[in-house]
Amino acid sequence: MADLNPKPWSETTIVGKGIHRIDGRDLLSGEARYSLDMDLPDMLYAATLRCPHAHARVVKVDLAKAREMPGVRAILSDADKEAQVAFFPKMGPPWPNPVTISRLFDSHCRYAGEEVAVVAAETQAQAWDAVRAIEVQYEKLPFVTNLDDALKPGAPVFQEGADNRAAPPNAYSRGDVAKGFAESDIVVEETYRTSCKIHSPLETYGATVRWDGDHLTVWESTQSPFPIQIGVASALKMPLSKVRVICRYMGGGFGSKQDNNKFTLIAALLARRTGRPVKYFLTREESFLCMGNRPAYSMKAKAGVKKDGTLMALEFNALLEVGAYPTGSAVASGIFRELYTCANVKTSEQLIYVNAGQLRAFRAPGYPPGAWALEQMMDTLAEKIGMDPVEFRLKNGAKVCQTDANKPFTSNGLPQCLTEGAKAFGWKEARARAKSEGPVVRGVGMAAAIWSNVARPRATVIVKYYLDGSVNLNMGAADLGTGARTIMAQVVAEELSVPVESIEVENADTGTTQFSDGANGSKTTMIDSPAVRAAALDVKYKLLEAAAGQLKVPVTGLTLKNGKIIGPAGTAPLPVQDLAFMQMQQVVVGVGVRIPHPTDKSIRPFAAQFAEVEVNQRTGEVRVLRMLAAQDSGRVMNRMTFESQVFGALTMGIGMALTEQRVLDGNTGKMVNANWHDYKIPTAMDVPAELTCLAIDPHDMEVNSTGTKGLGEPALVPAPAAIANAFYNATGVRPTAAPLTPANVLNLLNRGRKQG
Ligand code: MOS
Repeated sequence: MADLNPKPWSETTIVGKGIHRIDGRDLLSGEARYSLDMDLPDMLYAATLRCPHAHARVVKVDLAKAREMPGVRAILSDADKEAQVAFFPKMGPPWPNPVTISRLFDSHCRYAGEEVAVVAAETQAQAWDAVRAIEVQYEKLPFVTNLDDALKPGAPVFQEGADNRAAPPNAYSRGDVAKGFAESDIVVEETYRTSCKIHSPLETYGATVRWDGDHLTVWESTQSPFPIQIGVASALKMPLSKVRVICRYMGGGFGSKQDNNKFTLIAALLARRTGRPVKYFLTREESFLCMGNRPAYSMKAKAGVKKDGTLMALEFNALLEVGAYPTGSAVASGIFRELYTCANVKTSEQLIYVNAGQLRAFRAPGYPPGAWALEQMMDTLAEKIGMDPVEFRLKNGAKVCQTDANKPFTSNGLPQCLTEGAKAFGWKEARARAKSEGPVVRGVGMAAAIWSNVARPRATVIVKYYLDGSVNLNMGAADLGTGARTIMAQVVAEELSVPVESIEVENADTGTTQFSDGANGSKTTMIDSPAVRAAALDVKYKLLEAAAGQLKVPVTGLTLKNGKIIGPAGTAPLPVQDLAFMQMQQVVVGVGVRIPHPTDKSIRPFAAQFAEVEVNQRTGEVRVLRMLAAQDSGRVMNRMTFESQVFGALTMGIGMALTEQRVLDGNTGKMVNANWHDYKIPTAMDVPAELTCLAIDPHDMEVNSTGTKGLGEPALVPAPAAIANAFYNATGVRPTAAPLTPANVLNLLNRGRKQG
């Protein structure tokens, strides 16, 4: 039997090349149809009435006037039997804490934005007009909008008889931290905070749905067509075979589009009732309010170190302001447990409900806030013992996976990320020329990162090789805009020796492609590309075996090149279309199934990032002058898509460090900056031209058959902390709380000066 899961290539001709996206023309010309662009003949438009109060009970919904509005075809609320469906974003068991389960229209509204009723009408404007005509009587309830208030005795609670802690805390411990601190020469303690951040993908949230008899088709903007299919089928009690979810093009998700959504189910119910397709997309404002966030973190950290730099103990206690109905992970402690060799570690995380929009997974859930704390603390420790921050990290960087039975890593590029990153950045020189006189000061900082890929690898891929040498790659994975389609085509081109242009990629359609978990956890490349390679190899071996039979030669001497079977020297190349087998079948079909991860090793990507910033001490403005990211994500499949992932991550890191924060009005509980004017994501004006991306490829031969580990998330993790450390280097003041807006910076510097 031919091996469909061989060791990674030692040399490649197409994989690794910085080729343009195969769908670049469609994306740039506007021809690409995103889910948001999906318009169907005869379709209706939906709009939502949302609870305007942070905490309220719906006493009465009067739809009489709304029903008479022009164009209205259906209205759904909790009064409708078919809408009395329990909802959780990860549909199906195991179900979490009951508080995080709601009904599609829950009469107990726990944040300003919760769904009360949805109208389907002939036009979008008519749907909104009808929403405004719905009369609702609310009983307003007391609310809390921040974790400090939520923990006070007597605070309004989510669940009667409980407090606002979503029990139990996520706790971890190894060794003995008390002993570790006692044996330390220096112990530091600090509280760090990061603000609540909104995902802000360019494409808003929603779905267009259509019934054909008892068969439902959903065009949703989603990272995870197959999990959405499972959730919809489970909620509507339908077989999987009758639910088809499609997401051909996708305008970003960053974790917020990997779970099930109320809008899909509501659209399906409205479409069933009206017998018409329904388009149900949220506005930008609704996307800010209701579709998830990276929660605010309050993190107490403590670390102890010997004078020689040996890390002795780490303690971490985090409180997360997770809103109502949190979903997805947010484990800030992961980086405390794994990045550095440390015998004594104790971490705890407590999710705190508040009356606001929900936590959803957000690009490396928990890790950028965790790194904000850990990597600033490491900076402080290094300074206290007079060690260079890079040296300090080189000394303490993990050698084995301490949370996974001390297994070795399949590869560990952290030392290279640190040393080669420092060299390429000019770390030593830049530290020496840091400028601390005058109103505008300059400094450099760095931070390291680890990322955890623990997801089960599951994917089935089909590759079809046609008589004319053109190829169809059929895979379940979505392409969120990362370039997944392109790099997967490169894998097929590599194995089948065909031009990338001859490969047609069909993906992210549960009706025509096979199961893939979804594009999250930075795992599409590392989980799906080996299945793609296996499917291509299956095709290749089938062709070679057919040729060996026809030519009556051993298969081992044959190769496939440019549509021809090449035999031993002296024999004429045999075109694939001349194979009797191909004449008969017209097509050869290869199937690749993802095999499990290695069990004796742990898979972790690593990174080290460097930043140079300027701080205007009079205005409080912080400018990032340049950044360098050294990333060990295993093999780089495509230099261009690699860079666009890293540049996007650095941009997001700048936003987290400097500008982005959800602002809730404590008096009303409403978000006051639910728009792109007042919620500040970095623009081209805020991102330096000098972004450098250094690929550290440790030639991982163990991780899988493509040597890939995952990039999108680890590229973000250290960025905000590197900026914070550069800020400290420039000003001498430790910026414990993000974001470093001008107002926050001025307060911080004034406080720092008074203390100093
Ligand atoms: Mo991610 S936050 O696992 O899409």
